[in-house]
Amino acid sequence: MKKKLIIDVDTGVDDAQAIMVALAAPSVEILGITCCHGNTTLDHACKNTLRVLKVCNRLDIPVYRGCAEPLLARKLHAGDFHGKDGLGDAPDPDAPGLELLQKEKAVQAMIKLVNENPGEVTLVATAPLTNLAVAVKLDPSFPEKLKALYIMGGNTESRGNTTVCGEFNFVADPEAAYVVLDRYTCPTHIATWEFSCRNSLPWSFCDTWLAQDTDKAHFMERISCHTRKMVQTERYQKELVAGPGFNSCDTYALAAAIDSSLVTESEEVAVTVELEGTYTRGMMVLDYLDQLDKKHKASIMKKVDCEKFRQMLMDALK
Ligand code: BDR
Repeated sequence: MKKKLIIDVDTGVDDAQAIMVALAAPSVEILGITCCHGNTTLDHACKNTLRVLKVCNRLDIPVYRGCAEPLLARKLHAGDFHGKDGLGDAPDPDAPGLELLQKEKAVQAMIKLVNENPGEVTLVATAPLTNLAVAVKLDPSFPEKLKALYIMGGNTESRGNTTVCGEFNFVADPEAAYVVLDRYTCPTHIATWEFSCRNSLPWSFCDTWLAQDTDKAHFMERISCHTRKMVQTERYQKELVAGPGFNSCDTYALAAAIDSSLVTESEEVAVTVELEGTYTRGMMVLDYLDQLDKKHKASIMKKVDCEKFRQMLMDALK
């Protein structure tokens, strides 16, 4: 039986890469893609998702419009990094329009799809966690009906990429991240910022990857141009935890959801999110001392099988 996935995205460049890895995996059935504010506006995130599906000839997969803003925090986008439109400001005049979105809203769709497949759906979240927080508020039993949750977000050593101590997805909606880490007691796997940096690939791999002569590789080449320039800036170099490398952060969470053997080292820790600190709001807190008295522990990814990961990326652009 195929692995059933719902993917919650704010489609910027690495979300696009993650979606394409999922589309290329023969063992996966994508039940739907739900969109959220984040890297770019919600409208752009929806359009970008449809663009990715069009390139992969998979516009049959339903795409849903989710939350346009965080629960309480001020709106935050990553336009500097991903481009104003989230996909490197390299527009496609023939891109599909928003009329292709489903009429049903993302959160309702998530709940419905999971109710139709209880215990079978793996939810992968590569955006701020607003849609997931609203889902558990609407249906408190939602998390227990999931097979597993995979998140790209948070950090382990207070190394920020957005604020001093905060990773983008958690900083963009700290309250939602708090609710999700508190209420989702299903098996939860987290690909943090430091983990993704430490498992990044050599840039020479990225060159080979993009040099494949396919429509998908040409698309990826075009939308990646802007971020490839950005990663060379001094500001970005300071964010890196482990030196320069090609870091497709969202793809780690997605690839691990597809093939759990990808993760070769992880640790189980109870986690929460700081909501008040002047410098630390949005930072993930790891409770090694068990002071929070939380029964539920998340699995924090540490290392992946890089060879397997490369192969999944290569297959995504074939
Ligand atoms: C996360 O923030 C976004 O810019 C990326 O898409 C990824 O989800 C990394 O901190």
